[in-house]
Amino acid sequence: MKVAVVYNLSHSDLEHYKTEFTPKELDFEPYFDVESCNPLEGYHSIRDALIKVGYEAYCLNLFDDYNAFLADYKINCPDIIFNMVEIYRDKAYLEMSFASLLEMMKVPYTGAPPLALGVCQRKIMTKSILSSLEIRTPKFQVITRLEELGSLKLNYPIIVKPSMEDASLGIEDESVVSDMEALKRRVQYVLNHFKQNVLLEEFIDGRELNVAVLGDKNPRVLPISEIDFSEMPAHLNNIVSYQAKWDPFHEAYHMARPICPALLPLEVEKEAKDLALRAFKALGCRDYARVDMRLSNDNKLYVLEANPNPDLTEDAGFMRSSRASGMSFRRTLRKIVEFAWSRREEKRIMDYEV
Ligand SMILES: Nc1ncnc2c1ncn2[C@@H]1O[C@H](COP(=O)(O)OP(=O)(O)O)[C@@H](O)[C@H]1O
Ligand SMILES: [Mg+2]
Repeated sequence: MKVAVVYNLSHSDLEHYKTEFTPKELDFEPYFDVESCNPLEGYHSIRDALIKVGYEAYCLNLFDDYNAFLADYKINCPDIIFNMVEIYRDKAYLEMSFASLLEMMKVPYTGAPPLALGVCQRKIMTKSILSSLEIRTPKFQVITRLEELGSLKLNYPIIVKPSMEDASLGIEDESVVSDMEALKRRVQYVLNHFKQNVLLEEFIDGRELNVAVLGDKNPRVLPISEIDFSEMPAHLNNIVSYQAKWDPFHEAYHMARPICPALLPLEVEKEAKDLALRAFKALGCRDYARVDMRLSNDNKLYVLEANPNPDLTEDAGFMRSSRASGMSFRRTLRKIVEFAWSRREEKRIMDYEV
């Protein structure tokens, strides 16, 4: 069986990766390796793992042109698309459009259907759906213009986020604010920089949990992963900021440390797993997803968001959970391909279980 691992990195994305995180002298003890990562390595390692489990797999970069896919499809006729397209022409909201193209072509592909990709990309829509099911999410307010801060309804501290981004884009230490002056500054920054509505949320002080879900018709929750902030110095906030997620030369990157499985009281673990599964189904996720949560100091769970098609590289959160469940990287990838393959002749309408 032929599997095309399809992703989209433009020439400028590739250039950007080379220059964005420049090596600098560190004034702290690094915990992880400090090499900048090569984004292509992740895709290549997925392809290599798929080859090792017996598929005829290859990588295809769209370079921001879906015609590259159409041309390749004609020549190579892959049986399955391993869909790793997350962005198109710099627009995260076009992630769903590539999945739509595959739907229209009736090509089996891995991961979430277009609607789930679209809904989860809009944090406010996601929160409305979750709230309607009585799944707790942090109290929030949407700001479209700076003047609207005059009728602030939330309690400090507040976290300020772009409402339609992903992967900690726009989430920095300055995003957590405790007074009107800092709030205004950050809202103005997000409005200017991201040109989209701003999501204000009450900041949930406490622990951070990532709950991975794997499966199509019978999804199951994998061991919970925690981001441990106990080593985070006092001058940085306990959040997975952009720097904590991506910049190996930043202190936050080394002080937000994943632990899997997380040590949790049994009833909290049970509730977190139940919430993740309900969120996965309600948002229409499929095959694999990761639900991000915070556990407040008074032991309440809040769902922050769901990530359909999260990072699948070997050292990312999803695979950490999968490994903790006893499944290897290769076996997890093979399962994801099998889910897509078993849908190939299905007449099932995309059903959203709420
Ligand atoms: N309401 C909140 N309370 C506490 N921390 C938050 C809150 N919202 C976001 N964060 C922090 O910011 C990070 C990124 O926010 P998230 O909503 O998951 O956006 P993204 O799509 O960029 O991952 C989270 O992992 C968490 O550390
Ligand atoms: Mg997140």
